[in-house]
Amino acid sequence: MAVLHRLFRAARVSLSHPPSHPRGRPELRRCFHHGTSFEQSNSKASDVLRSCSTTLNDSPLFSMSPAVFGVLFSVGVAAYADSDEANYKSSSPIDPPQHSSSVPADPPPNYADIAKKERARIQELIQSKGSQYGSCPRFNVSVRGQKITLKFQVPSTCEVAQLIANIGSQLGVKVSDRTGGSDMILRAWDSPVAWQITLRSVEKKKEQGASEDDSDEDLCILIFGSLLNSDKVEVEYIKKGSLTTEEREAFVSALQVAGTKPGQNKESGRARDTSMDKTISQLESMGVRIYGVNKPLGDDSVDEISWDNIAGYDQQKREIEDTILMALHSPEVYDDIVRGTRSKFESNRPRAVLFEGPPGTGKTSCARVIANQAGIPLLYVPLEAVMSKYYGESERLLGAVFSQANELSDGGAIIFLDEIDAFAISRDSEMHEATRRVLSVLLRQIDGFEQDKKVVVIAATNRKQDLDPALISRFDSMIMFGLPDLQTRQEIIAQYAKQLSKPELVQLAQATEAMSGRDTRDVCQGAERTWASKLIRRAKAIGLEQQQVTLPPIQEYLESAEARRRALRSVAEQREHNLAARSKKPLLDFE
Ligand SMILES: Nc1ncnc2c1ncn2[C@@H]1O[C@H](COP(=O)(O)OP(=O)(O)OP(=O)(O)O)[C@@H](O)[C@H]1O
Ligand SMILES: [Mg+2]
Repeated sequence: MAVLHRLFRAARVSLSHPPSHPRGRPELRRCFHHGTSFEQSNSKASDVLRSCSTTLNDSPLFSMSPAVFGVLFSVGVAAYADSDEANYKSSSPIDPPQHSSSVPADPPPNYADIAKKERARIQELIQSKGSQYGSCPRFNVSVRGQKITLKFQVPSTCEVAQLIANIGSQLGVKVSDRTGGSDMILRAWDSPVAWQITLRSVEKKKEQGASEDDSDEDLCILIFGSLLNSDKVEVEYIKKGSLTTEEREAFVSALQVAGTKPGQNKESGRARDTSMDKTISQLESMGVRIYGVNKPLGDDSVDEISWDNIAGYDQQKREIEDTILMALHSPEVYDDIVRGTRSKFESNRPRAVLFEGPPGTGKTSCARVIANQAGIPLLYVPLEAVMSKYYGESERLLGAVFSQANELSDGGAIIFLDEIDAFAISRDSEMHEATRRVLSVLLRQIDGFEQDKKVVVIAATNRKQDLDPALISRFDSMIMFGLPDLQTRQEIIAQYAKQLSKPELVQLAQATEAMSGRDTRDVCQGAERTWASKLIRRAKAIGLEQQQVTLPPIQEYLESAEARRRALRSVAEQREHNLAARSKKPLLDFE
């Protein structure tokens, strides 16, 4: 506030000097408009401020403007957060004074009504453009004095430069005689606490010539970033009265650009989205599951999985980052090295990685984290999506997965082939022939990736020893997922039974020795279920309508672990028995 008081004093001083420019610069005036509530609560001071803005450029204060503006902006933004449509009435103190003559003056426009209609029109336009719910950032329409403001926050996934280019090309003066594009006047401020850009049409300025009197009637677009309070950039359209159709279109277009996720090609617009949708539905109809596309921003769905969800396995996480994620994020580093080392350029970025390890050790879970972190789609291809009993069909399906992965995204894609061992082994001779053909398609695809495409294959298997050596030799890296050790089991249990004390976690980790992450999770789930049924039975037995819910004690978990161990032992015994029976059968059975 001290800075503001200093500013008022300086403003009064500057007012006492005749301004060298009759109206001052509009952009300075606008920066003061930003502090709406400040104007509302202190209309006298705001008058001074508005007058001050007409002279600031020519006063000594101008030299310290960045810092002053920064303070004013942050005050303005904080004040704006409190002002919404409910504040329409409070804006009256700064409305122009009504005529007191006996001739009845025109009733003042109802700005609240205009704002309401504007919101409805924009919502209609968004829908008519086929934007899905949640795919655009939320916007806010409010009234400031005699002006309507439309505002939205730019998600961190949107590039501000691209947004500015979009606004410029939508609203600027077209420059068709050059290389296309359009012109707009851009003014910018930068201070230690905030930065701001205003955009204005060149045409309007030309029409008005040297005079900028009516500039307040024009659309002004602020793009504002506070460096202190929030990491979000805000876009604000300010206009006296309603937007024109063109301006409304431009606002919706900016909203759509802001809502576009990286990796989605914004230039080719809806035509491309449609072709992407077609590719996705073709893949999905084959049984391929696709992660990492078409998820609305801010959608924290269950697919959102991060390294934190996978306890332990630090070495494996590190290897995945080194071999897969880094190459996807910074391919240029890999390419530059190759340019310096090889006589003939060929990419050394990893194309195929093998995840090997017993069932339930987190291989598929890691692939899903990769899909989230890589920012490119991951195609999860279960065995049944490609294996077909019809002659030639399996090879065709696998080939289709690869060609559609290349079409799905310019940024590349990850193909996750689960249970890859099924492509390489089979005891059934007819099936064996089919798998052999599928395998040869797979080998050709891994060999034949185009250099500029960023398609990476991740294959998972429980039986690496059964894989075809030709396939194994094509993996750039093999990451082993072993059974979790005591410490890792403890961490997994802590994710599924957080109420247990440290000694109890250790006790349960000891009781789950040689179990996988999936088994350990299932032990905890089993304990929860039996405990729930016990509570319900107990409540019924004593005639209680509502049972007070308590959490399962360690004993419940230990019993569940024991039950799981018995079940696993019986499955293992059954498997051994089957193997022994098979080995007794003659190899050539003519019956
Ligand atoms: N390290 C871990 N931390 C937490 N949960 C785990 C961990 N490992 C496995 N799980 C749990 O086990 C489930 C199964 O893991 P996942 O499907 O990733 O195993 P997998 O190695 O792909 O198994 P499979 O070889 O049978 O396909 C996961 O959804 C998760 O709930
Ligand atoms: Mg799996």
